[in-house]
Amino acid sequence: MRIAMIGGGYVGLVSAACFAEFGMHVSVVETNPQRLAALREGRIPIYEPGLDALVISNTQAGRLVFGDDIATAVTGAQAVFIAVGTPPRNGDGAADLQYVHAAARQIAQALTGYAVIVTKSTVPVGSSRRIAQIIRNVRPDLDFDVASNPEFLREGSAIDDFMRPDRVIIGLDQTQPERAGRAENVMRQVYRPLVQAAAPLVFTGLETAELTKYAANSFLAMKISFINEMADLCEKLGADVEDLARGMGLDARIGRRFLSPGPGYGGSCFPKDTLALSRIAQENQSGCRLVETTVQVNEARKAAMAGRIIAACGGSVVGRTIAVLGLTFKPETDDMRESASIPILHRLAEAGATLRAYDPVGMDAARALLPPDVIYCADAMEAAQDADVLVVLTEWNIFRALSPEVLAQRMRTKAIVDLRNIFDPAAMRAAGFLYQSVGRP
Ligand code: NAD
Ligand code: UDX
Repeated sequence: MRIAMIGGGYVGLVSAACFAEFGMHVSVVETNPQRLAALREGRIPIYEPGLDALVISNTQAGRLVFGDDIATAVTGAQAVFIAVGTPPRNGDGAADLQYVHAAARQIAQALTGYAVIVTKSTVPVGSSRRIAQIIRNVRPDLDFDVASNPEFLREGSAIDDFMRPDRVIIGLDQTQPERAGRAENVMRQVYRPLVQAAAPLVFTGLETAELTKYAANSFLAMKISFINEMADLCEKLGADVEDLARGMGLDARIGRRFLSPGPGYGGSCFPKDTLALSRIAQENQSGCRLVETTVQVNEARKAAMAGRIIAACGGSVVGRTIAVLGLTFKPETDDMRESASIPILHRLAEAGATLRAYDPVGMDAARALLPPDVIYCADAMEAAQDADVLVVLTEWNIFRALSPEVLAQRMRTKAIVDLRNIFDPAAMRAAGFLYQSVGRP
Protein backbone atom coordinates (compact mmCIF):
# COMPACT_ATOMS: atom_id res chain seq x y z
CA MET A 1 0.00 0.00 0.00
CA ARG A 2 1.41 3.41 -0.98
CA ILE A 3 0.05 6.60 0.52
CA ALA A 4 0.79 10.26 -0.21
CA MET A 5 0.25 12.80 2.58
CA ILE A 6 -0.08 16.45 1.54
CA GLY A 7 0.95 18.56 4.56
CA GLY A 8 3.46 17.55 7.23
CA GLY A 9 1.98 19.44 10.22
CA TYR A 10 0.50 17.93 13.38
CA VAL A 11 -2.07 15.82 11.61
CA GLY A 12 -0.15 15.00 8.43
CA LEU A 13 3.07 14.04 10.18
CA VAL A 14 1.45 11.95 12.90
CA SER A 15 -0.84 10.17 10.40
CA ALA A 16 2.05 9.55 8.00
CA ALA A 17 4.34 8.17 10.71
CA CYS A 18 1.58 5.89 12.03
CA PHE A 19 0.65 4.56 8.57
CA ALA A 20 4.37 3.90 7.96
CA GLU A 21 4.60 2.12 11.30
CA PHE A 22 1.79 -0.15 10.07
CA GLY A 23 4.06 -1.12 7.16
CA MET A 24 2.79 1.17 4.40
CA HIS A 25 4.98 3.33 2.19
CA VAL A 26 4.17 6.98 2.92
CA SER A 27 5.40 10.01 0.99
CA VAL A 28 4.87 13.33 2.78
CA VAL A 29 4.74 16.54 0.76
CA GLU A 30 5.56 19.66 2.77
CA THR A 31 5.87 23.11 1.20
CA ASN A 32 7.26 24.98 4.21
CA PRO A 33 11.03 24.90 3.53
CA GLN A 34 12.05 25.06 7.20
CA ARG A 35 9.67 22.24 8.15
CA LEU A 36 10.83 20.15 5.21
CA ALA A 37 14.52 20.71 5.93
CA ALA A 38 14.00 19.73 9.57
CA LEU A 39 12.11 16.57 8.63
CA ARG A 40 14.75 15.55 6.11
CA GLU A 41 17.44 15.95 8.77
CA GLY A 42 15.46 13.82 11.24
CA ARG A 43 14.48 16.83 13.37
CA ILE A 44 10.80 16.92 14.31
CA PRO A 45 9.47 20.46 13.93
CA ILE A 46 6.67 19.99 16.49
CA TYR A 47 6.65 18.65 20.04
CA GLU A 48 4.56 15.51 20.26
CA PRO A 49 5.51 12.73 22.69
CA GLY A 50 6.91 9.66 20.90
CA LEU A 51 6.77 11.18 17.44
CA ASP A 52 10.52 11.63 16.95
CA ALA A 53 11.29 7.94 17.52
CA LEU A 54 8.44 6.87 15.22
CA VAL A 55 9.51 9.23 12.42
CA ILE A 56 13.18 8.36 12.67
CA SER A 57 12.71 4.56 12.71
CA ASN A 58 10.31 4.62 9.77
CA THR A 59 12.48 7.02 7.80
CA GLN A 60 15.47 4.75 8.34
CA ALA A 61 13.39 1.76 7.23
CA GLY A 62 12.63 3.64 3.99
CA ARG A 63 8.85 3.57 4.53
CA LEU A 64 8.53 7.29 5.32
CA VAL A 65 9.92 9.90 2.94
CA PHE A 66 9.67 13.68 2.81
CA GLY A 67 9.78 15.99 -0.17
CA ASP A 68 8.24 18.99 -1.89
CA ASP A 69 7.58 17.35 -5.23
CA ILE A 70 3.98 16.26 -5.36
CA ALA A 71 4.40 14.32 -8.62
CA THR A 72 6.96 12.00 -7.05
CA ALA A 73 4.84 11.58 -3.94
CA VAL A 74 1.59 10.62 -5.66
CA THR A 75 3.12 8.23 -8.18
CA GLY A 76 1.72 4.80 -7.44
CA ALA A 77 -0.25 6.01 -4.40
CA GLN A 78 -3.66 4.38 -3.97
CA ALA A 79 -4.70 7.04 -1.45
CA VAL A 80 -3.68 10.71 -1.42
CA PHE A 81 -4.47 12.44 1.88
CA ILE A 82 -4.98 16.19 2.18
CA ALA A 83 -3.84 17.27 5.68
CA VAL A 84 -3.18 20.97 5.18
CA GLY A 85 -4.41 23.73 7.50
CA THR A 86 -7.93 25.19 7.44
CA PRO A 87 -7.52 28.25 9.69
CA PRO A 88 -10.44 30.59 10.39
CA ARG A 89 -10.90 33.14 7.62
CA ASN A 90 -10.35 36.69 8.82
CA GLY A 91 -13.61 38.39 9.63
CA ASP A 92 -16.32 35.79 9.50
CA GLY A 93 -14.94 32.68 11.25
CA ALA A 94 -15.58 30.41 8.26
CA ALA A 95 -12.80 27.93 7.44
CA ASP A 96 -10.23 29.25 4.96
CA LEU A 97 -10.03 26.61 2.25
CA GLN A 98 -7.30 28.17 0.12
CA TYR A 99 -4.69 25.56 1.13
CA VAL A 100 -7.09 22.67 0.59
CA HIS A 101 -8.11 23.91 -2.84
CA ALA A 102 -4.49 24.55 -3.84
CA ALA A 103 -3.59 21.02 -2.75
CA ALA A 104 -6.48 19.62 -4.81
CA ARG A 105 -5.25 21.44 -7.91
CA GLN A 106 -1.69 20.21 -7.35
CA ILE A 107 -2.88 16.62 -6.86
CA ALA A 108 -4.97 16.83 -10.04
CA GLN A 109 -1.99 17.97 -12.05
CA ALA A 110 0.29 15.30 -10.64
CA LEU A 111 -1.79 12.11 -10.62
CA THR A 112 -0.98 9.50 -13.25
CA GLY A 113 -3.48 6.79 -12.29
CA TYR A 114 -6.53 6.00 -10.16
CA ALA A 115 -6.37 7.14 -6.53
CA VAL A 116 -8.75 8.07 -3.75
CA ILE A 117 -8.27 11.69 -2.69
CA VAL A 118 -8.95 11.69 1.04
CA THR A 119 -9.61 14.89 2.98
CA LYS A 120 -8.23 14.65 6.50
CA SER A 121 -8.29 18.40 7.11
CA THR A 122 -11.38 19.65 8.94
CA VAL A 123 -13.49 21.20 6.19
CA PRO A 124 -17.02 22.62 5.85
CA VAL A 125 -19.81 20.48 4.50
CA GLY A 126 -19.66 20.34 0.73
CA SER A 127 -15.87 20.60 0.56
CA SER A 128 -15.24 17.04 -0.65
CA ARG A 129 -17.61 17.58 -3.58
CA ARG A 130 -15.89 20.90 -4.27
CA ILE A 131 -12.51 19.15 -4.25
CA ALA A 132 -13.85 16.59 -6.74
CA GLN A 133 -15.05 19.46 -8.94
CA ILE A 134 -11.67 21.22 -8.79
CA ILE A 135 -9.92 18.00 -9.82
CA ARG A 136 -12.39 17.40 -12.66
CA ASN A 137 -11.88 20.97 -13.88
CA VAL A 138 -8.13 20.47 -14.06
CA ARG A 139 -8.19 16.90 -15.40
CA PRO A 140 -11.58 16.00 -16.93
CA ASP A 141 -10.34 12.51 -17.91
CA LEU A 142 -8.77 11.53 -14.61
CA ASP A 143 -10.16 8.44 -12.87
CA PHE A 144 -10.42 9.17 -9.12
CA ASP A 145 -12.76 9.16 -6.15
CA VAL A 146 -12.95 11.42 -3.12
CA ALA A 147 -13.39 10.48 0.53
CA SER A 148 -13.86 12.52 3.69
CA ASN A 149 -11.89 11.10 6.60
CA PRO A 150 -11.87 13.64 9.44
CA GLU A 151 -9.18 13.18 12.07
CA PHE A 152 -9.97 13.03 15.79
CA LEU A 153 -6.46 12.81 17.28
CA ARG A 154 -5.57 15.14 20.16
CA GLU A 155 -2.24 16.86 20.45
CA GLY A 156 -0.15 15.45 23.25
CA SER A 157 -1.61 11.96 22.81
CA ALA A 158 -1.73 12.00 19.03
CA ILE A 159 0.03 8.70 18.30
CA ASP A 160 -2.09 6.68 20.68
CA ASP A 161 -5.24 8.44 19.49
CA PHE A 162 -4.34 7.66 15.88
CA MET A 163 -3.39 4.04 16.47
CA ARG A 164 -6.23 3.26 18.86
CA PRO A 165 -9.10 5.50 17.78
CA ASP A 166 -12.63 5.16 19.15
CA ARG A 167 -13.75 5.09 15.52
CA VAL A 168 -12.68 6.01 11.99
CA ILE A 169 -15.22 8.02 10.00
CA ILE A 170 -15.08 7.62 6.23
CA GLY A 171 -17.46 9.57 4.03
CA LEU A 172 -17.98 8.47 0.43
CA ASP A 173 -20.12 9.67 -2.43
CA GLN A 174 -23.02 7.32 -1.76
CA THR A 175 -25.00 8.81 -4.62
CA GLN A 176 -22.67 6.77 -6.88
CA PRO A 177 -22.70 3.30 -5.27
CA GLU A 178 -20.25 1.67 -7.69
CA ARG A 179 -17.64 4.36 -7.25
CA ALA A 180 -18.27 4.44 -3.50
CA GLY A 181 -17.68 0.67 -3.39
CA ARG A 182 -14.37 1.03 -5.18
CA ALA A 183 -13.20 3.81 -2.85
CA GLU A 184 -14.45 1.85 0.17
CA ASN A 185 -12.16 -1.05 -0.78
CA VAL A 186 -9.14 1.24 -0.86
CA MET A 187 -10.07 2.84 2.48
CA ARG A 188 -10.58 -0.59 4.06
CA GLN A 189 -7.04 -1.52 2.98
CA VAL A 190 -5.66 1.75 4.36
CA TYR A 191 -7.29 1.18 7.74
CA ARG A 192 -6.95 -2.61 7.94
CA PRO A 193 -4.31 -2.43 10.71
CA LEU A 194 -6.66 -0.34 12.85
CA VAL A 195 -9.58 -2.68 12.30
CA GLN A 196 -7.35 -5.44 13.68
CA ALA A 197 -6.93 -3.15 16.71
CA ALA A 198 -10.76 -3.20 17.00
CA ALA A 199 -11.46 0.33 15.73
CA PRO A 200 -14.83 0.46 14.02
CA LEU A 201 -14.88 1.97 10.54
CA VAL A 202 -18.02 4.04 10.11
CA PHE A 203 -18.90 4.56 6.46
CA THR A 204 -21.22 7.49 5.74
CA GLY A 205 -22.00 9.94 2.99
CA LEU A 206 -19.56 12.78 2.33
CA GLU A 207 -21.69 15.46 3.98
CA THR A 208 -22.29 13.39 7.11
CA ALA A 209 -18.59 12.69 7.61
CA GLU A 210 -17.72 16.38 7.22
CA LEU A 211 -20.44 17.44 9.64
CA THR A 212 -19.62 14.71 12.18
CA LYS A 213 -16.21 16.24 12.79
CA TYR A 214 -17.63 19.68 13.57
CA ALA A 215 -20.45 18.22 15.64
CA ALA A 216 -18.06 16.10 17.75
CA ASN A 217 -15.64 18.97 18.43
CA SER A 218 -18.45 21.42 19.16
CA PHE A 219 -20.11 18.96 21.53
CA LEU A 220 -16.85 18.53 23.47
CA ALA A 221 -16.34 22.30 23.55
CA MET A 222 -19.91 22.64 24.87
CA LYS A 223 -19.16 20.06 27.56
CA ILE A 224 -16.15 22.10 28.70
CA SER A 225 -18.09 25.38 28.72
CA PHE A 226 -20.84 23.64 30.69
CA ILE A 227 -18.45 22.46 33.40
CA ASN A 228 -16.81 25.89 33.50
CA GLU A 229 -20.19 27.44 34.23
CA MET A 230 -20.88 24.75 36.83
CA ALA A 231 -17.52 25.61 38.42
CA ASP A 232 -18.65 29.23 38.79
CA LEU A 233 -21.93 28.09 40.31
CA CYS A 234 -20.11 25.72 42.69
CA GLU A 235 -18.04 28.66 43.92
CA LYS A 236 -21.19 30.64 44.67
CA LEU A 237 -22.86 27.72 46.46
CA GLY A 238 -19.91 26.23 48.33
CA ALA A 239 -20.03 23.04 46.22
CA ASP A 240 -17.05 21.19 44.74
CA VAL A 241 -16.92 20.92 40.93
CA GLU A 242 -14.47 17.98 40.99
CA ASP A 243 -16.96 15.88 42.97
CA LEU A 244 -19.79 17.20 40.82
CA ALA A 245 -17.96 16.18 37.61
CA ARG A 246 -17.27 12.74 39.06
CA GLY A 247 -20.89 12.39 40.14
CA MET A 248 -22.10 13.40 36.68
CA GLY A 249 -19.45 11.55 34.74
CA LEU A 250 -20.01 8.16 36.35
CA ASP A 251 -23.30 8.16 34.48
CA ALA A 252 -22.20 6.31 31.33
CA ARG A 253 -24.54 8.47 29.28
CA ILE A 254 -22.48 11.53 30.24
CA GLY A 255 -18.94 10.18 30.71
CA ARG A 256 -16.16 11.55 32.89
CA ARG A 257 -13.91 12.94 30.16
CA PHE A 258 -13.88 16.60 29.13
CA LEU A 259 -15.46 17.70 32.37
CA SER A 260 -12.36 19.40 33.80
CA PRO A 261 -12.90 23.10 34.45
CA GLY A 262 -10.18 25.49 33.39
CA PRO A 263 -9.41 28.93 31.96
CA GLY A 264 -11.39 28.25 28.75
CA TYR A 265 -10.68 25.83 25.94
CA GLY A 266 -8.10 26.72 23.28
CA GLY A 267 -6.08 24.99 20.59
CA SER A 268 -6.16 24.83 16.85
CA CYS A 269 -9.51 23.00 16.67
CA PHE A 270 -12.25 23.81 19.21
CA PRO A 271 -12.24 27.61 18.77
CA LYS A 272 -12.16 27.47 14.98
CA ASP A 273 -14.48 24.48 14.60
CA THR A 274 -17.20 25.93 16.86
CA LEU A 275 -17.07 29.17 14.85
CA ALA A 276 -17.15 27.27 11.58
CA LEU A 277 -20.13 25.13 12.64
CA SER A 278 -22.05 28.25 13.73
CA ARG A 279 -21.28 29.73 10.33
CA ILE A 280 -22.38 26.60 8.46
CA ALA A 281 -25.68 26.61 10.37
CA GLN A 282 -26.24 30.32 9.68
CA GLU A 283 -25.59 29.84 5.98
CA ASN A 284 -28.19 27.09 5.95
CA GLN A 285 -30.74 29.03 8.02
CA SER A 286 -30.52 26.37 10.72
CA GLY A 287 -30.38 26.95 14.48
CA CYS A 288 -27.08 26.41 16.27
CA ARG A 289 -27.65 28.44 19.41
CA LEU A 290 -25.99 26.00 21.80
CA VAL A 291 -22.72 26.20 19.88
CA GLU A 292 -22.95 29.98 19.41
CA THR A 293 -23.45 30.34 23.16
CA THR A 294 -20.54 27.98 23.82
CA VAL A 295 -18.29 30.32 21.84
CA GLN A 296 -19.51 33.32 23.84
CA VAL A 297 -19.18 31.51 27.17
CA ASN A 298 -15.60 30.56 26.32
CA GLU A 299 -14.63 34.11 25.34
CA ALA A 300 -16.18 35.45 28.54
CA ARG A 301 -14.38 32.77 30.53
CA LYS A 302 -10.93 33.93 29.46
CA ALA A 303 -11.76 37.56 30.31
CA ALA A 304 -13.21 36.50 33.67
CA MET A 305 -10.07 34.53 34.53
CA ALA A 306 -7.91 37.61 33.87
CA GLY A 307 -10.26 39.53 36.17
CA ARG A 308 -9.91 36.83 38.83
CA ILE A 309 -6.12 37.17 38.78
CA ILE A 310 -6.37 40.96 39.07
CA ALA A 311 -8.77 40.54 41.99
CA ALA A 312 -6.27 38.18 43.66
CA CYS A 313 -3.78 41.07 43.51
CA GLY A 314 -6.23 43.26 45.44
CA GLY A 315 -7.90 44.85 42.42
CA SER A 316 -4.82 46.32 40.76
CA VAL A 317 -1.76 44.66 39.26
CA VAL A 318 0.23 47.88 38.87
CA GLY A 319 3.65 47.21 40.39
CA ARG A 320 2.73 43.56 40.99
CA THR A 321 4.68 40.56 39.72
CA ILE A 322 2.70 37.60 38.47
CA ALA A 323 4.33 34.18 37.99
CA VAL A 324 2.65 32.22 35.19
CA LEU A 325 3.07 28.45 34.99
CA GLY A 326 2.12 26.96 31.63
CA LEU A 327 1.45 28.84 28.40
CA THR A 328 0.42 26.24 25.82
CA PHE A 329 -3.28 25.50 25.28
CA LYS A 330 -2.85 22.13 26.99
CA PRO A 331 0.08 20.06 28.32
CA GLU A 332 2.36 17.82 26.22
CA THR A 333 2.35 20.12 23.21
CA ASP A 334 4.29 23.18 22.10
CA ASP A 335 1.20 24.50 20.33
CA MET A 336 0.16 28.00 21.39
CA ARG A 337 -2.69 28.38 18.90
CA GLU A 338 -5.69 30.03 20.63
CA SER A 339 -4.23 29.30 24.05
CA ALA A 340 -6.16 30.94 26.89
CA SER A 341 -2.79 32.32 28.04
CA ILE A 342 -2.77 34.78 25.12
CA PRO A 343 -5.77 36.97 26.03
CA ILE A 344 -5.17 36.52 29.75
CA LEU A 345 -1.54 37.66 29.65
CA HIS A 346 -2.33 40.55 27.31
CA ARG A 347 -5.01 41.73 29.73
CA LEU A 348 -2.63 41.49 32.69
CA ALA A 349 0.14 43.30 30.82
CA GLU A 350 -2.25 46.09 29.76
CA ALA A 351 -3.30 46.44 33.39
CA GLY A 352 0.35 47.04 34.37
CA ALA A 353 1.54 43.66 35.70
CA THR A 354 5.10 42.35 35.48
CA LEU A 355 4.82 38.82 34.08
CA ARG A 356 7.34 36.04 34.76
CA ALA A 357 6.42 32.95 32.75
CA TYR A 358 7.60 29.38 32.39
CA ASP A 359 6.40 26.61 30.07
CA PRO A 360 8.32 23.35 29.55
CA VAL A 361 8.18 23.46 25.71
CA GLY A 362 5.95 26.33 24.59
CA MET A 363 8.11 29.38 25.21
CA ASP A 364 9.58 29.68 21.71
CA ALA A 365 6.15 29.69 20.10
CA ALA A 366 4.81 31.95 22.87
CA ARG A 367 7.22 34.83 22.22
CA ALA A 368 5.48 35.90 19.02
CA LEU A 369 2.02 35.82 20.61
CA LEU A 370 2.42 37.14 24.15
CA PRO A 371 3.09 40.72 25.27
CA PRO A 372 6.69 41.71 24.44
CA ASP A 373 7.80 42.36 28.01
CA VAL A 374 6.97 38.93 29.42
CA ILE A 375 10.05 37.59 31.24
CA TYR A 376 10.69 33.96 30.27
CA CYS A 377 12.19 31.87 33.07
CA ALA A 378 14.22 28.68 33.18
CA ASP A 379 11.83 26.82 35.47
CA ALA A 380 8.81 27.22 37.72
CA MET A 381 10.80 28.26 40.78
CA GLU A 382 12.60 30.98 38.84
CA ALA A 383 9.21 32.28 37.64
CA ALA A 384 7.96 32.32 41.23
CA GLN A 385 10.89 34.45 42.46
CA ASP A 386 9.53 37.53 44.28
CA ALA A 387 6.10 37.08 42.71
CA ASP A 388 2.95 38.43 44.33
CA VAL A 389 0.71 35.78 42.86
CA LEU A 390 1.38 32.50 41.07
CA VAL A 391 -1.06 31.49 38.32
CA VAL A 392 -1.36 27.99 36.86
CA LEU A 393 -2.63 28.17 33.28
CA THR A 394 -1.59 24.77 31.87
CA GLU A 395 -1.56 21.54 33.87
CA TRP A 396 1.91 20.25 32.95
CA ASN A 397 2.71 17.28 35.22
CA ILE A 398 6.00 18.85 36.23
CA PHE A 399 4.09 21.52 38.20
CA ARG A 400 2.09 19.05 40.26
CA ALA A 401 4.82 18.20 42.74
CA LEU A 402 6.08 21.74 43.39
CA SER A 403 6.76 22.08 47.10
CA PRO A 404 4.39 24.61 48.71
CA GLU A 405 7.04 25.38 51.32
CA VAL A 406 9.74 26.17 48.73
CA LEU A 407 7.28 28.24 46.69
CA ALA A 408 6.35 30.15 49.83
CA GLN A 409 10.01 31.00 50.44
CA ARG A 410 10.45 32.23 46.87
CA MET A 411 7.39 34.43 46.56
CA ARG A 412 6.93 37.96 47.88
CA THR A 413 3.25 37.37 48.67
CA LYS A 414 1.77 33.93 49.23
CA ALA A 415 -1.10 33.83 46.74
CA ILE A 416 -1.98 31.22 44.10
CA VAL A 417 -4.65 31.22 41.41
CA ASP A 418 -4.75 27.63 40.18
CA LEU A 419 -6.92 27.64 37.04
CA ARG A 420 -6.37 23.90 36.44
CA ASN A 421 -6.99 22.55 39.96
CA ILE A 422 -3.62 20.79 40.10
CA PHE A 423 -2.74 21.56 43.73
CA ASP A 424 -4.20 20.25 46.94
CA PRO A 425 -6.04 23.17 48.58
CA ALA A 426 -5.35 21.87 52.10
CA ALA A 427 -1.58 21.57 51.47
CA MET A 428 -1.44 25.06 49.98
CA ARG A 429 -3.37 26.60 52.84
CA ALA A 430 -1.21 24.74 55.35
CA ALA A 431 1.82 26.40 53.75
CA GLY A 432 0.18 29.77 54.34
CA PHE A 433 -1.05 30.45 50.82
CA LEU A 434 -4.14 32.36 49.92
CA TYR A 435 -5.18 29.65 47.45
CA GLN A 436 -7.92 29.88 44.84
CA SER A 437 -8.78 27.20 42.32
CA VAL A 438 -11.79 26.77 40.03
CA GLY A 439 -15.07 25.48 41.40
CA ARG A 440 -13.64 24.14 44.65
CA PRO A 441 -14.48 25.54 48.05
P1 NAD B 1 -0.55 22.54 10.50
O1 NAD B 1 -0.64 23.97 10.18
O2 NAD B 1 0.26 22.07 11.67
O3 NAD B 1 0.00 21.73 9.24
C1 NAD B 1 -0.38 21.96 7.91
C2 NAD B 1 0.88 21.79 7.05
O4 NAD B 1 0.52 21.74 5.68
C3 NAD B 1 1.88 22.94 7.19
O5 NAD B 1 3.13 22.42 7.58
C4 NAD B 1 1.93 23.57 5.79
O6 NAD B 1 3.20 24.06 5.44
C5 NAD B 1 1.54 22.39 4.93
N1 NAD B 1 0.97 22.74 3.61
C6 NAD B 1 0.05 23.69 3.31
N2 NAD B 1 -0.26 23.65 2.01
C7 NAD B 1 0.47 22.65 1.46
C8 NAD B 1 0.58 22.10 0.15
N3 NAD B 1 -0.15 22.57 -0.85
N4 NAD B 1 1.43 21.07 -0.04
C9 NAD B 1 2.16 20.57 0.97
N5 NAD B 1 2.10 21.05 2.23
C10 NAD B 1 1.26 22.07 2.48
O7 NAD B 1 -2.06 22.04 10.65
P2 NAD B 1 -2.62 20.81 11.52
O8 NAD B 1 -2.74 21.20 12.94
O9 NAD B 1 -1.88 19.57 11.13
O10 NAD B 1 -4.10 20.73 10.95
C11 NAD B 1 -4.36 20.27 9.63
C12 NAD B 1 -5.85 20.03 9.50
O11 NAD B 1 -6.26 18.98 10.39
C13 NAD B 1 -6.72 21.23 9.86
O12 NAD B 1 -7.83 21.24 9.02
C14 NAD B 1 -7.14 20.95 11.28
O13 NAD B 1 -8.37 21.54 11.61
C15 NAD B 1 -7.28 19.45 11.26
N6 NAD B 1 -7.08 18.80 12.57
C16 NAD B 1 -6.08 19.22 13.40
C17 NAD B 1 -5.88 18.56 14.62
C18 NAD B 1 -4.81 18.99 15.58
O14 NAD B 1 -4.82 18.52 16.71
N7 NAD B 1 -3.89 19.85 15.19
C19 NAD B 1 -6.68 17.46 14.95
C20 NAD B 1 -7.66 17.05 14.05
C21 NAD B 1 -7.85 17.73 12.85
C1 UDX C 1 -9.28 18.48 19.98
C2 UDX C 1 -10.17 17.23 19.96
O1 UDX C 1 -10.22 16.67 21.29
C3 UDX C 1 -9.66 16.21 18.97
O2 UDX C 1 -10.56 15.10 18.89
C4 UDX C 1 -9.57 16.89 17.59
O3 UDX C 1 -9.04 15.98 16.67
C5 UDX C 1 -8.69 18.13 17.66
O4 UDX C 1 -9.22 19.02 18.67
P1 UDX C 1 -6.88 19.11 20.94
O5 UDX C 1 -7.21 20.48 20.47
O6 UDX C 1 -5.56 18.53 20.61
O7 UDX C 1 -7.98 18.08 20.41
O8 UDX C 1 -6.98 19.11 22.55
P2 UDX C 1 -8.08 18.70 23.62
O9 UDX C 1 -7.49 17.70 24.53
O10 UDX C 1 -9.39 18.37 23.03
O11 UDX C 1 -8.22 20.07 24.44
C6 UDX C 1 -8.73 21.25 23.83
C7 UDX C 1 -8.86 22.35 24.84
O12 UDX C 1 -9.87 22.05 25.79
C8 UDX C 1 -7.58 22.60 25.65
O13 UDX C 1 -7.41 23.99 25.81
C9 UDX C 1 -7.88 21.94 26.98
O14 UDX C 1 -7.17 22.52 28.06
C10 UDX C 1 -9.37 22.18 27.11
N1 UDX C 1 -10.03 21.21 27.98
C11 UDX C 1 -10.11 19.91 27.61
C12 UDX C 1 -10.59 21.64 29.19
O15 UDX C 1 -10.53 22.82 29.55
N2 UDX C 1 -11.24 20.71 29.97
C13 UDX C 1 -11.34 19.40 29.62
O16 UDX C 1 -11.95 18.63 30.37
C14 UDX C 1 -10.77 18.98 28.40
